[in-house]
Amino acid sequence: MNWSGQRVLVTGGAGFLGSNLSLALAARGARVTALDGFLFGGGANPKNLEGSDVELVRGDIREIDLRPLCEGASVIFNLAAQTSHMGGQNDPLADIAVNAVAQVRLIQAAREAAPDAVVVHASTRQFYGRVVKLPVDENQPVAPPDANGVSKFAGEQYWLLEHRVRQRPVVSLRLTNCYGPRLRIRDARQTFLGIWIRSVLENRPFEVWGGEQLRDLTYVDDMTDAFLRAAVTPECHGRIFNIGGAPPASLRALADLVVRVAGQPARYTVREFPAERAQIDIGSYHADDSAFRAATGWAAAVSLEDGIRKTIDWYRSRLADYL
Ligand SMILES: NC(=O)c1ccc[n+]([C@@H]2O[C@H](COP(=O)([O-])OP(=O)(O)OC[C@H]3O[C@@H](n4cnc5c(N)ncnc54)[C@H](O)[C@@H]3O)[C@@H](O)[C@H]2O)c1
Repeated sequence: MNWSGQRVLVTGGAGFLGSNLSLALAARGARVTALDGFLFGGGANPKNLEGSDVELVRGDIREIDLRPLCEGASVIFNLAAQTSHMGGQNDPLADIAVNAVAQVRLIQAAREAAPDAVVVHASTRQFYGRVVKLPVDENQPVAPPDANGVSKFAGEQYWLLEHRVRQRPVVSLRLTNCYGPRLRIRDARQTFLGIWIRSVLENRPFEVWGGEQLRDLTYVDDMTDAFLRAAVTPECHGRIFNIGGAPPASLRALADLVVRVAGQPARYTVREFPAERAQIDIGSYHADDSAFRAATGWAAAVSLEDGIRKTIDWYRSRLADYL
């Protein structure tokens, strides 16, 4: 697709992935509206879109009239979500309200205002739960380990239903852990890597919980590329895809890489998971994303070392904006 002049809605567009995607779309000439409710504890940051051509609408998908925002959109990238796992455990009703109920609101608004729009939905590998066999393909049974996994699965299924019953072109991408510029680094609410990066930039030690779990982190530019390809590849429509990233690495190896790239002596401690986190931990994960690669030609291009370096370098001059 030639993005130039296309009207695009990005929900969650001031957050980590949504802002990177919005900026990439605007750079390609799309007319981008980013809707974001700046939810407490999420990744939204006004700095994420500052100075860009992206139109930022502050509004909550649970309440705002979504029809005018959908009007004329050729693609809706749907990234707004309550993303905190402990947040979902502590307040499952609020979690369902965003991740499932408000998804149905958006579906209904899009039926009226953007009946032909392609929808790329940001889903998660989280609801596969604790898997035994790696790598994980799309046939892995779903066994959500926490309330957030249940609500994210429900939201995804409402969108896929929209494809089956009304033939809307919908793609759901089940993401693994992502990282890169515009990640929330103030604390560990978005990912463990956020607080690690903050810590090394402030020259403070950090904690690694567990340490042997494997993760296949995706650098944000690769994830943006995946979203763009999913939108424009008709073969993807009506399907779910696991998206992975770099070859799997243990958390301990990741921690070593972070301190090495930051130029710090190894200042982290490995400890047991806190009890409340251990109950919802998914253990090791890495994706089999061969289906998506075959459908779109996509491949993660940024190595872990380059991605960590780019991320740390990006924050060096912007740390204050993200604390
Ligand atoms: N980053 C990852 O590693 C990862 C992994 C798996 C799945 N995902 C999915 O990708 C999407 C984006 O995640 P992210 O990491 O950028 O998180 P994020 O918190 O940075 O972005 C989500 C955005 O949605 C907004 N939002 C939440 N509730 C809203 C509401 N009711 N109305 C309007 N806006 C609302 C938040 O303010 C936030 O800016 C989410 O759907 C998430 O589940 C992300």
